[in-house]
Amino acid sequence: MNSSFRIGVVGSGKGSNFVALADAIAAGKIPAEIAVVLSDVESAGILAHARGRKIPAQFIPPGKFRTKLDEEAERAFVSALQSAKVDLIVLAGFMRVLKGDFLRAFAGRIVNIHPSLLPSFPGLEAWKQALDHGVKVAGCTVHFVDAGVDAGPIIAQQTVPVFENDTPESLHRRIHAAEHELYPKCVVALARGEISVAGRRVIWKKSQTCSNPYIFT
Ligand code: GRF
Repeated sequence: MNSSFRIGVVGSGKGSNFVALADAIAAGKIPAEIAVVLSDVESAGILAHARGRKIPAQFIPPGKFRTKLDEEAERAFVSALQSAKVDLIVLAGFMRVLKGDFLRAFAGRIVNIHPSLLPSFPGLEAWKQALDHGVKVAGCTVHFVDAGVDAGPIIAQQTVPVFENDTPESLHRRIHAAEHELYPKCVVALARGEISVAGRRVIWKKSQTCSNPYIFT
């Protein structure tokens, strides 16, 4: 396996998307290695999962702001990722908005997963926003990260149905399960260099899975 493609995973929470990625890599499905896992939350499950797999994992205090990193923290995140020589940064439940210096340091090399079919329902509790709005189809989106909130070019989306008896929790569980399928598929394509960007449009150079590689149901 070619493991020269190095991934840095950054998250604040449970780390189930990290686990899905690490499992896919361990199973030989993604030609890459996770070089480092970083979190702004000392007790985050994602750090424990990484340490359990002997992957370098580091807590970096986020500083004085609630929704973004302060300058010192931003420098520390950038320097940890540069020291790990990452080719791609995978945000997996990172609850802070990335700003200029971080984005510039890794331009075009940061991806995120969001629990809605963007551009609908950016921001917090997207599954609840979708349910409250009454949509019949929900899902998740993998996208490049830019200066907006959940706003960068869309790489792929996976849909799930919304049922009449859904609660926010049941819909969230269904979307989360879809995320664990979609994120590894996108990271495979990124690691293989099969994805390019033209303005807002993301082009999949060739399909590994089906004739329409970027919409999954
Ligand atoms: C996911 O629902 C993802 O869409 C959102 O944060 C959550 C992270 O979950 N950005 P986990 O920590 O990977 O379990």
